[in-house]
Amino acid sequence: MKIQTIKDIFAEKIKKNWYTIRAYKALVVASLEDFNRFVKYSGTFKKEYTKEQLESIITIDYHRLEKGLSMEFVRPGFGSQATSDLQNNMLIYADKFELSNIWFEVFTTLESYYNSAKQQNSLNDKLFQQFAEIKRLSETSTHTRSTPNGGIEHIERETINKYINIDYKSFVESRHSIRHFSDGEIDMDRIFRAAEIAQLAPSVCNRQPWHLYALTNKININELLTRHGEARGFDHNVNKILIVTVDLQNFHYQGERNEAWIDGGIYTQALLNGLHYLAIGTCCLNWCVNKIHDQWLKNLIDIPKSSVIICLIALGELPKTFNVPISPRKDISTVLTVK
Ligand SMILES: Cc1cc2nc3c(=O)[nH]c(=O)nc-3n(C[C@H](O)[C@H](O)[C@H](O)COP(=O)(O)O)c2cc1C
Repeated sequence: MKIQTIKDIFAEKIKKNWYTIRAYKALVVASLEDFNRFVKYSGTFKKEYTKEQLESIITIDYHRLEKGLSMEFVRPGFGSQATSDLQNNMLIYADKFELSNIWFEVFTTLESYYNSAKQQNSLNDKLFQQFAEIKRLSETSTHTRSTPNGGIEHIERETINKYINIDYKSFVESRHSIRHFSDGEIDMDRIFRAAEIAQLAPSVCNRQPWHLYALTNKININELLTRHGEARGFDHNVNKILIVTVDLQNFHYQGERNEAWIDGGIYTQALLNGLHYLAIGTCCLNWCVNKIHDQWLKNLIDIPKSSVIICLIALGELPKTFNVPISPRKDISTVLTVK
C-alpha cells in the first residue's frame, strides 16, 4: 500500500477542488479590475473633474434644489450649501467648457430657487450676489437652448388620471423576448423614437448616466453575435444591435459603485418597452464576458474606457407568426414580503 505524503494529499485536494480554485481566482481578478476601473474613472478620488464628472456633480446639486422646491412645504432658506457648491462648480464649468444645455437647466432652476427665496424673505444675499455672475454669463452666451425651463412644474391629478387609463398590463404581457425575426429592416427613425421614450427613465439624481449605441454594420453584427454565442439559432436575422452603456464618471463615492447597473437596468427596461411600443422585436443579450471580449467591443465602436457595458439588445422585425418561450413567472407570494 502506497503511503500518502503531505505533498500527495495536497495535490489531490487541489485536483479535487480545481474548478473552485479557478473560479475564485477569476472572481478575485475580475473584482480587482472592477475596483481599479471605479477608482480610475469615478469622481471618488478626483481633485480636478472631467466635463462628465463636473456635469454630474452639478446635476446632483441642482436636483437638490428642484426637489426642495417641489415639497409640499418649501423650507425657508433650504439648500444654501447645495447652492453654494453648485454656483462654484458652475463658474468652474464656464471657465473650462462651452456653455451647454445643462448650464441653462441649472440657471433657470437657480432663478426659480431665488424667486421662491424672495417670496419667503429668506434670500441669502451673498449667494444671490454670486448668482449675478452666472446670470451675466447666461445672458451673454450665444448657445441656443433646446431645453425647457428648470425648477418645478405644476401637475393636476386629473391630467395623470387621463393618461393612466390604458391597458398597461396587456401591453406588458404582450412583450416577449423574440428569437425569430423576419428579414425586414428596422429604420433608425423608430430606434430614435424608442430612445426618446427610454430617456424618460428615472435615474439617480436624474444623472441619466447611460449611452446607447446602435450597431448597424452587418459584418460587425455577425462578428459580435459569433463571439457572444448566446444568440445561436436566431443570429442570422438580427437586423441591428443596441448596446446600453453607463459611464462611471457619473458616480462619486463607494456607495455608488453598483449604481451603473441599477440605472442601466432601469433604462434598458424603458427602452425595451419603447421598442415594443413601436412593434420592434427585441431580445436582451447578456454581456457577462471576460475582459478580452469587453475590450474588443469597446474598441469596435469607440466606447470610452470609463463606461461599462450593461447589456446588448438584438433587434428585428416581427414575423407574421412565431413562437416564444412561455417563461413562466414566479408566484407573487414568493416575491412580495409584507412586514
Ligand atoms: C440582462 C438580460 C440578458 C439576457 N440574455 C439573453 C441571452 O444572452 N440570450 C437569450 O436568448 N436571451 C437572453 N435574455 C432574455 C431572457 O431569457 C428573457 O428576458 C426571460 O426568459 C424572460 O422572457 P421574456 O423576456 O420573454 O419575458 C436576457 C434577458 C436579460 C434581461
